[in-house]
Amino acid sequence: MPPTNHDAFWMPFTANRQFRKTPRMLVAADGMYYTTDDGRKVLDGCAGLWCVNAGHNRPRITQAVQKTIATLDFAPTFQMGHPLAFEAADRIAALAPGDLNHVFFCNSGSEAMDSALKIALAYHRVRGEGARTRLIGRERGYHGVGFGGISVGGLSGNRKLYGSLLTGVDHLPHTLDIERNAFTRGLPAHGAELADNLERIVALHDASTIAAVVVEPMAGSTGVLPPPVGYLKRLREICDKYGILLIFDEVITGFGRLGGTPFAAEKFGVLPDILACAKGVTNGTIPMGAAIARDHVHAAFMTGPETGIELPHGYTYSGHPVACAAAIATLDTYAEENLFERAGDIAPYFEEAVHALRGLPHVIDIRNVGLVAGIELASRPGAVGARAYEVFDRAFHKGILVRYTGDVVAVSPPLIIEKSQIDQVFGTLADIIHAVE
Ligand SMILES: Cc1ncc(COP(=O)(O)O)c(C=O)c1O
Repeated sequence: MPPTNHDAFWMPFTANRQFRKTPRMLVAADGMYYTTDDGRKVLDGCAGLWCVNAGHNRPRITQAVQKTIATLDFAPTFQMGHPLAFEAADRIAALAPGDLNHVFFCNSGSEAMDSALKIALAYHRVRGEGARTRLIGRERGYHGVGFGGISVGGLSGNRKLYGSLLTGVDHLPHTLDIERNAFTRGLPAHGAELADNLERIVALHDASTIAAVVVEPMAGSTGVLPPPVGYLKRLREICDKYGILLIFDEVITGFGRLGGTPFAAEKFGVLPDILACAKGVTNGTIPMGAAIARDHVHAAFMTGPETGIELPHGYTYSGHPVACAAAIATLDTYAEENLFERAGDIAPYFEEAVHALRGLPHVIDIRNVGLVAGIELASRPGAVGARAYEVFDRAFHKGILVRYTGDVVAVSPPLIIEKSQIDQVFGTLADIIHAVE
């Protein structure tokens, strides 16, 4: 007999047994709010999972999805095409900075990262530098859960159960430095020199063995680590010096999350060779991701006989018509409502509100950039994450959805958030942080 008591769903990144004792169930969503199964409204303080940047239930997106599923429910993109995939790629390329002009579609951030890593390795190989096989990630990096992503990723909890991972991977040190940078507003002043560790890694392995360096421009899932001033530029310079590709994982930072610009690359003035994105590309409605390559990366593949498949890679659902329709309608929604600019305009208010939590019990650091904030709490002895979990759980019951990772409480609301809602998020969090042991 199949189970009928809701025991079948093995929940991702969840304490399954704990959840079953105290379930948190969402049944509807509109604008800034979720509705729970007991009819409560919960203010979405984390854009679902860093993805619903335009807020929930946006009519243009919903209608595009409905129309497309009734018109072209599926079409293959292996040796076949459909107009929506070409249009969506054009639109994404137009939004991406510089000559990031070539969009390889997939279905998630994890796949976008694996695609980016594979493109980087293949790029060197097709150019006759096939010895460049090493990939350099960073401690505390999160690049999804594929084998490529966890190999370059730097969260031990996500790696330790899964064997030896990819070989030939090394890691830069992470950039968190609470001692020097605590309670910085925006980008921390100290830490650009940490990029110089790439020189040491090059000295150890030799540049001729290194394919790519991959970082999140702002590390999100590890607990909101904005890059030190000058750090990303320094990484770019060292990559250029040694012919190493630079990959930005913008799965969280893409589509206006950092305010003002569509991507962090533009905001921080550093152009990667490949940019991975997902989440906000469809406002979270339909799974989609993409690895976006610059002209020189793409051009390296467009050689040899025209009948040859240049990149033997792809997913059944690469460029799925419904996802493409959702992406186009999402980009229209962002543009119509100037949501990236809006995020930039309201970010100072958001910054002020989160930094008002400074001085509360347990708060050892507050970090923010754009519409992202991380509030780091001191850990309880022998129970890392317990205090932040309690804040997260209490917040949900008081009508606010936030995220936690370790003992960092993360806030990353839809870009449509109003000032009064910002007050509500941080006012509620302040009350809870006061109350928790
Ligand atoms: C920076 C980054 N990369 C990759 C991923 C993985 O995305 P997905 O869960 O869609 O596979 C995430 C997800 O949070 C992310 O934050």
